Amino acid sequence: MHKKNPQSSTRHLKTLERVISKAGVGSRTDARSWIGAGRVRVNQRTVQNPDHWVDLDRDRITLDGKPLKAAKRLYLLLYKPKGYITTRRDPEGRPTVYDLIGDAGAWVSPVGRLDLETSGLLVMTNDNDFAERLTNPDHKVPKVYQVKAASLLTEEQLERLRQGVELSDGPTRPALVSRLRDGPRHTFLEITISEGRNRQVRRMLEAVDSKVLKLVRTAIGEVRIGDLAIGRWRNLTEEEVRALGGTHPKQGRRL
Ligand code: URA
Repeated sequence: MHKKNPQSSTRHLKTLERVISKAGVGSRTDARSWIGAGRVRVNQRTVQNPDHWVDLDRDRITLDGKPLKAAKRLYLLLYKPKGYITTRRDPEGRPTVYDLIGDAGAWVSPVGRLDLETSGLLVMTNDNDFAERLTNPDHKVPKVYQVKAASLLTEEQLERLRQGVELSDGPTRPALVSRLRDGPRHTFLEITISEGRNRQVRRMLEAVDSKVLKLVRTAIGEVRIGDLAIGRWRNLTEEEVRALGGTHPKQGRRL
C-alpha cells in the first residue's frame, strides 16, 4: 500500500529501497536499479519508485517473484592485504575486498575504511547500527595499529603523538603510543586511536616530521587479528560481536 505521509503510520514504514538493501541481497545502488528495472513488486504490483513507502506489517514485497526475507545478521573479520581497496568496485579495476570474501551469505559492507596500502583487520557487516557504533568517534572504540616509521623517532616525537597533533581537520585526541622496537633506521610502534579520520595515522606521523612506511591494523576494541591468515576472513564469534556492541542473533531479523 502506498503511504503519502509516512509520519502518520507505524514505525515499520520504510522506503522500498531501504527494505531491499537491508534484506542483505545487495547495496542501495543495486536496490534502486532493480526497482527501476521493474523486478520488484509490492502486493503483486510492480513498483518502480525506490522511495515508495511500504508497511512491513502489511505489504508483501517480492524480488524476481521471490518474497523478500530479512537477512541474518552477518559480522565478518577480514585480514585485508595491502593493494586491495575497501569499496565494492574500482573504476581503475584494482582488486577490492569483495574479491576476497566471495559469497559470504548476504550483502555486507565494510565498517570504516582502510587505505589501499594499509593491511589488517577489517570488519564487514549488514548491521548498520553496529557499523555506526564502531565508526562514530563519540563511542571511542579503540583501533590499534602497528606502524613502521620512515625514520627513528625520538621520545619527544612519540610524546607529541600521545598528546595529540594538529591536522588540517583539527587536533587529534590523545592516543596510546608505545615503541615496539628500533631498527637501525626505523622505529616500529603501536598506536591506539579512538577516531577514524581519513588517513589519520599517516597524517599523524607526517605531523611529527616522519612518515608511515607500513601500516597494519591489529585490533578494534576487543577483537584482535590473531592468527587469521592474510587475505582470509572468518565470522566474528558471539563474544566478539557482543564486546563490540552488537547482538548476533542466530535468527532472521526484521527488515
Ligand atoms: N590510518 C591511516 O592512515 N590509514 C588507514 O588505513 C587507517 C588508519
